[in-house]
Amino acid sequence: MRYHEDLQEHAMAVAETNLTKPPELVSRERREIRKLGTLVEIGRILADTNALSLALERVLESLGRHHGMVRSFVMLLDRESGILRVEATYGLNLDQARRATYKVGEGVIGRVVQSGKPVVVPQTSQEPLLLNRLRSIEENPSRKEMSFICVPILVENKAIGVIGADRPYKQHRDFDRTTKFLSVISSMIAQALKVEQRFEADKKRLLDENTLLKQELRERYDFSRIIGNSNPMRQVYEQVTQVARTNTTVLLRGESGTGKEMIAHALHYNSLRAAKPFVKVSCAALPDTLIESELFGYEKGAFTGAQARKKGRFELADCGTLFLDEIGDLDLTTQIKLLRVIQEREFERLGGTETIKINVRLIVATNKDLEDAISKGLFREDLYYRLNVFTIFMPALRERKPDILLLAEHFVDKFEREHGKHIKRISTPAIDMLTTYHWPGNVRELENVIERAVLVCESNVIHGHHLPPSLQTAEGSDTVTRLSLTSAMEAYERDLIQDALKTARGNRAKAAKLLDSTERIIGYKVKKYGINCSRFRT
Ligand SMILES: Nc1ncnc2c1ncn2[C@@H]1O[C@H](COP(=O)(O)OP(=O)(O)O)[C@@H](O)[C@H]1O
Ligand SMILES: [Mg+2]
Repeated sequence: MRYHEDLQEHAMAVAETNLTKPPELVSRERREIRKLGTLVEIGRILADTNALSLALERVLESLGRHHGMVRSFVMLLDRESGILRVEATYGLNLDQARRATYKVGEGVIGRVVQSGKPVVVPQTSQEPLLLNRLRSIEENPSRKEMSFICVPILVENKAIGVIGADRPYKQHRDFDRTTKFLSVISSMIAQALKVEQRFEADKKRLLDENTLLKQELRERYDFSRIIGNSNPMRQVYEQVTQVARTNTTVLLRGESGTGKEMIAHALHYNSLRAAKPFVKVSCAALPDTLIESELFGYEKGAFTGAQARKKGRFELADCGTLFLDEIGDLDLTTQIKLLRVIQEREFERLGGTETIKINVRLIVATNKDLEDAISKGLFREDLYYRLNVFTIFMPALRERKPDILLLAEHFVDKFEREHGKHIKRISTPAIDMLTTYHWPGNVRELENVIERAVLVCESNVIHGHHLPPSLQTAEGSDTVTRLSLTSAMEAYERDLIQDALKTARGNRAKAAKLLDSTERIIGYKVKKYGINCSRFRT
């Protein structure tokens, strides 16, 4: 604006000193200077903006105020649909104008985009091609004759939109100059659009990536990824469904590896906070001296080495969920601080005085016997009551035998994909071993056992001997007595023969070939182990 006025003043001064010049020349000079002023102003508007359509409106307004363009608009091409839409207007009702659209090639505006060349309509009343979709009668009540100028907005020689403007009709008007003037403005707009589009494309790509990642996370912790339909697990699902969408604190209890963390994720991703952060802190992994600063953050200079302010996990989880794993390992001092945060929903950073309000949903987990810890004075009873609002007990794997096979198959699928293997099935003896074992490490242990089996499996069937030694002997299992070497070998041999027969559809000669043996030996072993070959004939 300032520029504009300065330039206008300058123009006056020039005009005064040019009194000797013919008046026509003087007024033309004045107009040129005014145009220059407008260009400077427009450059400034476009450079300063981060909302392009608002900036475009200001550009059009400037054309209206200083250059008699009583009505004007910018239309942009929607690349996907090939339709031109109004982006900004001056002297026209924006909402109404937004409803008007043009196709490339349609009417005067459509032709400007198609050809990439400006069009001038000296008298709008005389031009049948002018579709006048943008103008309603109210906007030109006196029905004065108008001239219409339309220039393309070009990016890399392609029209991506137009500027259109009406000026009152005047005989012998020099449209060439006006067209050039508008073309300069259109190239400035094109530049701004290019910058914005690049920016928008980046933003869109980042947003897309983010959505994808979130989607992936959500899928990973989608209920359907939680395996098990045994009764104890059904009870867990029911509880998760009950509590997920509330803000209630949830306490997850159960042995290590039973899926507490997985359920914590499921609770978050099925809650109203799903789009907000899920932040985990493992209380056992951090020394007592660090846990506080980790949870609550600290101010610069709070202790030696605190060189800058750091946000704690409580702050990072704002509006989301904070998962405190192994809460039973929290030291007593931190327990007191945690209790205060839960009660008052606010805290201060270490070394800070500012009170920070929090909106965090708390999920905690432990494999410890908290009641026992209370009786030993290791866990505060008041904190326990604050946490023990809604408790979900995760069943041990040995208490839900029907799920073992489902989980084993789920992990076979997972790891065969991960390791690029092709595994058809788990042999019956191997399944027996999996189901009789007592799984002290629960699902985590099963997951590890299956990964190892997939890795060492040299065929497409997982056999007993692919499982680790803890499952091979009676030690690992409660039920089977210790096997002698001979009987273990025999069991293995029987496995192999049965599998070969299955592949050979009960044909002993083929099975013998598969095992690099002779039909006679196989026949002998089949009798010895009492294998029924007809079972495999299909
Ligand atoms: N029901 C289940 N379905 C599928 N995977 C499971 C299930 N329960 C546990 N897991 C897997 O077992 C591993 C251990 O689970 P985790 O949640 O970390 O146990 P915890 O926190 O109780 O020690 C994880 O890799 C988890 O994905
Ligand atoms: Mg865990």
